[in-house]
Order: sequence, then C-alpha cells, then structure tokens
Amino acid sequence: MAKSPVQFRLNGSDRATFVDPGDNLLTTLRRGLNEFGPKYGCGQGACGVCTVLIDGEPHLSCLTLAVACEGRHVETVSGMADGPNLHPLQTAFMDNFAAQCGFCTPGMLMAARALLERNPNPTREDVIEAIAGNICRCTGYEPIIAAILAAAGNRSQRQA
Ligand code: FES
Ligand code: FES
Repeated sequence: MAKSPVQFRLNGSDRATFVDPGDNLLTTLRRGLNEFGPKYGCGQGACGVCTVLIDGEPHLSCLTLAVACEGRHVETVSGMADGPNLHPLQTAFMDNFAAQCGFCTPGMLMAARALLERNPNPTREDVIEAIAGNICRCTGYEPIIAAILAAAGNRSQRQA
C-alpha cells in the first residue's frame, strides 16, 4: 500500500514522515520519528501511557491516526523541560516520589499538564478526574495526585 506524507509540529519542531493510512500516532512517533516519550502499553486505549497533547488537548496516541495529525502540534513528555530546567510538574513528581517504575509517568505528566493549562487551580477531585484514564500499577496514585496539586500550588505562587 502506498504511504502518505504527513507533517506536523512535534514539540515545537516541524517533522515529516511517511505513514500507511492506518498507522497510529504512537507507532509513527516511536518507529518513524524516534520519539520514545510516549510509551506503548495496551495499544487499545485502556492504560493512558501513550497520552500526548495535540493542539493542547490530551489524546491517546495509540488510538489516533497519524494522518489526522497533519498540520497540528503534537507535544510529548520529551518537550516538557526547558533545556536543563524541568517543568514544574516534573519537579513535583520527583519531589513527591510520584514515579516508581516510571512507565506511566509520561502519560500522567501530559494529562496533568493539560489539566493545569485549562485549570491552574484544580481541586483534588479535578486531578482525579483528569488522570482517570491513566493507569499506574506502582504508586497507588496518592503521590501522583499530591505532585499535581503541588505543581499547581507552585505555579500559583510564581504567578502571584
Ligand atoms: S497504549 Fe494507548 S491507552 Fe494504552
Ligand atoms: S510508576 Fe510504574 S506504572 Fe506508574
């Protein structure tokens, strides 16, 4: 089957590759563009480890067709840090011991980032809802929730 070109911004840089019509974004990122931030878990929309932002909204990249990303901005965990400076959410995850094996962390961070972009002062319930589609088998969720709430607090203080 003939491959189709697809171009989109990936973490602020223009990228282009060729895909089959049915290729999903996760495979395209990991195999076609050497972007290994999003992880492959279930491959069927149940675990959230492949979560990326597309034009600022969280999406499961295993369920997103690569061709549907034409002209859009895809953001992964790899683009969160500003050079050597970690994103406040990354720092908060470290400070709160919110990652153990870390496999779910990229997806958690992207879901949390989308939440804080649209709601800088989330409640605990808001956080729980935002990460409801992200499965972590290690931490029991409490450190993750604490980290996201801490990052929101830090952000509020910086803006004050
Ligand atoms: S790999 Fe995409 S939801 Fe599990
Ligand atoms: S830290 Fe291991 S699955 Fe979340």
